Amino acid sequence: MSRKFFVGGNWKCNGTKEEVKKIVTILNEADVPSEDVVEVVVSPPFVFLSFVKSLLRSDFSVAAQNCWVRRGGAFTGEISAEMLVNLGIPWVILGHSERRLLLGESNEFVGDKVAYALSQGLKVIACVGETLEQRESGSTTDIVAAQTKAIADQISDWRNIVLAYEPVWAIGTGKVATPSQAQEVHTGLRKWLQTNVGAEIAASTRIIYGGSVNGANCKELAAQPDVDGFLVGGASLKPEFVDIIKSAA
Ligand code: G3P
Repeated sequence: MSRKFFVGGNWKCNGTKEEVKKIVTILNEADVPSEDVVEVVVSPPFVFLSFVKSLLRSDFSVAAQNCWVRRGGAFTGEISAEMLVNLGIPWVILGHSERRLLLGESNEFVGDKVAYALSQGLKVIACVGETLEQRESGSTTDIVAAQTKAIADQISDWRNIVLAYEPVWAIGTGKVATPSQAQEVHTGLRKWLQTNVGAEIAASTRIIYGGSVNGANCKELAAQPDVDGFLVGGASLKPEFVDIIKSAA
């Protein structure tokens, strides 16, 4: 089964209105493969979401970097899934390791968030990934399986989920996973889905890689059969993000 290549750009907590305009202009002028070949979703900070959506080319889409776990209300500082839907924001990133580690988001909490976001009609980039300590102790497979299980336990419809494998030790470090390391974990995740969710969902679910992806390493990673795209951090704020999108071809 062919899976459309997916390239996400996670801008994290970065940017000014002027810098956002510059990035969007570069993206709008980029000569990239058609949306039949690659799906591009950029994820600015909340404060720039509507602004980016208003300027961005129509064949690209936008994602929020998080949303609350249930209906809105007395949750100061949170953004609800309903608000994103109301603004016409189709995607949301959930379970990013920076939120798991810095804000204590548990596997179960992430699973609840994914289920609620999907129930409100959002499409979800769901992040999993192990720490360096967990990799060095040989528990990578168990860790990402537990993170994925916490999501799978809460949902049945996988059509609007992209699974992002982001080894924590590769995020922001320049220590990108080797193509074989990425392929090994992606294969393991696809096998987990096949065994625990079903063959069709395993075959159709896009599993993307994130962690120090750049214009120089993207081609070799993209050539891996179970790497269906990328979730890019630092490089998504630079012109080389266009090269990463082109790696889909
Ligand atoms: O969500 C993507 C991000 O965590 C990867 O960051 O800067 O290593 O590409 P970076």
